[in-house]
Amino acid sequence: MKAAVVQPGGKIKYETVADPILKHSSDAIIKVTSTAICGSDLHIYNGSLPQMRPMVMGHEFMGIVEEIGRGVKNLKIGDRVIVPFPVACGHCFFCNHESPGNCENSNPEHYGPEGGLLTEKGGALFGYTDLYGGYDGGQAEFARVPYADYGPRIVSENLTDEQVLFLTDIFPTGYSAIDWGEVKGGETVLIYGAGPVGIMAAKSAWLRGAERVINVDTVQYRLDMAKAAANSEIILWEGGNGKNVIDFIRSITNNRGADLCVDAVGYEPDVNLLDRAKSVINLEMGSIKVLEACMSAVRRNGHVSVLGVYAGNYTNFPVGQFFDKGIILKGGQAPAHKHIDVLMKYVAEGKVKLDDIITHRLPLSEVEHAYHIFSKKEDNCVKVVLKP
Ligand SMILES: NC(=O)c1ccc[n+]([C@@H]2O[C@H](COP(=O)([O-])OP(=O)(O)OC[C@H]3O[C@@H](n4cnc5c(N)ncnc54)[C@H](O)[C@@H]3O)[C@@H](O)[C@H]2O)c1
Ligand SMILES: [Zn+2]
Ligand SMILES: [Zn+2]
Repeated sequence: MKAAVVQPGGKIKYETVADPILKHSSDAIIKVTSTAICGSDLHIYNGSLPQMRPMVMGHEFMGIVEEIGRGVKNLKIGDRVIVPFPVACGHCFFCNHESPGNCENSNPEHYGPEGGLLTEKGGALFGYTDLYGGYDGGQAEFARVPYADYGPRIVSENLTDEQVLFLTDIFPTGYSAIDWGEVKGGETVLIYGAGPVGIMAAKSAWLRGAERVINVDTVQYRLDMAKAAANSEIILWEGGNGKNVIDFIRSITNNRGADLCVDAVGYEPDVNLLDRAKSVINLEMGSIKVLEACMSAVRRNGHVSVLGVYAGNYTNFPVGQFFDKGIILKGGQAPAHKHIDVLMKYVAEGKVKLDDIITHRLPLSEVEHAYHIFSKKEDNCVKVVLKP
């Protein structure tokens, strides 16, 4: 089959690889009909999350069940399904606590309680390096889906691929930030990042009854998309530290700060020379400047939800501010399985629309170009959907 294969160093190549086969009786093989590129894929593409051997990329995909193992009960050949991005067994301690990203069974070689830099990682993710299970992903013609009775959800024929594809990751991810932030109605929610995840967080904040929803970004066209697709207020991060955003949020909240700040950027924000020097001196990967901004912009006793990936540790993390303000901090791989069913209902009822952030629809054969424009923010790219 044809697939997007990451090479050591991060380069993506459109290549011929072996078709996936059933390895366990609980597996299914999916013929992929639509797949997308995620901001998380860029950490591998940039080479900062290392992958030493070729691996098929992609954790946002859907398609038709082509084959099932003997043990699969909930699916049949021909079903049309979406597949949530964590690979999770469905019956371990963490799966039973609605935390599939921490599954104890899906990543046997690299799993552990510590959460170290290169050891004792969390549960597996599709197409997300050997450290996260080494499973081939869905930017391909076919994908093997383990634990097929637990992850895949059957989709109604009334819904198009584009209407439901983002239920595999970015919509439940954005929603998780709002859920962690315990938004119940009337809140001011400040979201750093107007990429696909930040925009989905904004849509979710409205769904949960927020009163004001604001997206921040360093790139104007991303903000324009947030305004168009999520009807959020927008503000451009200015200067090296985005102090203008902190001033703004305090000015509209009686000098308190936002009830909830969402970090939908992570450890690879836009950086200047000073940031680069800091990370070299501290031997740190990327920068925590966006997380620091969240800690400043949030009100005392407010919530900070961290969706953006942080892959290392940082000595200057503002733990004093965390304590003084009594901030409630939560982050991690989003529990996609937990929210996917109710969110699919919202899509079916027309309460929310997800496909309005798609800027590029391309054949999978153009995946190398797709990674390039998404990563370089060329051609006003926000979200690419690929058709195998
Ligand atoms: N927790 C999870 O389960 C989960 C799931 C999906 C994605 N993610 C992570 O979420 C993050 C965002 O993903 P995405 O798909 O939207 O990626 P993306 O790279 O398209 O979006 C990131 C956005 O942040 C903006 N940005 C850069 N510096 C900034 C700054 N200083 N202030 C504000 N905005 C800034 C960029 O211009 C860009 O628009 C990534 O780190 C990704 O790995 C996490
Ligand atoms: Zn993702
Ligand atoms: Zn599990």
